[in-house]
Amino acid sequence: MKIVKRPDIMQRIAGRLKRRGKSIGFVPTMGALHEGHLSLIRRARRANDILVVSIFVNPLQFGPSEDLKRYPRPFEKDKKLCRKEGVDFIFYPGAESLYPRDFKTRIAVNDLEDVLCGKSRPGHFRGVATVVAKLFNIVQPDTAYFGQKDAQQAVIIRRMARDLNMPLNIAVMPVVREKDGLAMSSRNVYLDADERRDAAVLPQALKLAEGLVKKNVRDSAKIVSKMKELIQQRKTASVDYISVVDPDGLLPVRRINPCSRALIALAVRIGRTRLIDNIMVGNKGR
Ligand code: PAF
Repeated sequence: MKIVKRPDIMQRIAGRLKRRGKSIGFVPTMGALHEGHLSLIRRARRANDILVVSIFVNPLQFGPSEDLKRYPRPFEKDKKLCRKEGVDFIFYPGAESLYPRDFKTRIAVNDLEDVLCGKSRPGHFRGVATVVAKLFNIVQPDTAYFGQKDAQQAVIIRRMARDLNMPLNIAVMPVVREKDGLAMSSRNVYLDADERRDAAVLPQALKLAEGLVKKNVRDSAKIVSKMKELIQQRKTASVDYISVVDPDGLLPVRRINPCSRALIALAVRIGRTRLIDNIMVGNKGR
């Protein structure tokens, strides 16, 4: 396994591999790898000749009052996990090499970036789209792998790749959960014992919603209100949003149509930690 820090060298290596006809699978991450990442890495390992994992805590996607400084960076542990999973290259650039002082470009995916998480994290998805576009240009993957936990991110990246004719496939893999259903996230390490217990209310609320849909409750407002009621019983929890949207355009869905899919997405603060999760209901439910 090689660790490559310089974008120009990573790009040269990727170009050479592609000219030799090798397929490149790519898993972009911010490190602090957990089972969710490992499920992407394993899938990418099986499906490609070469596997590149990037580890970069992207300052562009953090707001001024967010957790850029305290975001976990256990690089030695991440390196061991990558080696064990058969990763060929870790791309591990410094912020200065991806964003030199005169860096001016941003990628905006209009409308999709302003809803759901975009409302309380202005600029976040611009930062994500910009870094992912750069990473795609550097690593030149045939397929890039993302987790469904970050549903809005996956929708935005798919749309960016399609709109900008990027020559790659985007694969979106299912949410990986802890035993009590909590979605795996690098931010779960921030939770203390009480908060960790309360955090299980996120998947419980999604299960509740799923159950209501199965019982033919179609009114999104009613479903959201039941979910809020459940979440608010937990002392450390406060709801940022719960929304029912269509899974491609992220537009609100007032009534869930049993014949089509709807995405129920939520963000909840548990103490100071903002967690997200989602579930697909309707036609092709999960
Ligand atoms: O999902 C993440 O970890 C990040 O948003 C990503 C895609 C690596 C971009 O920084």
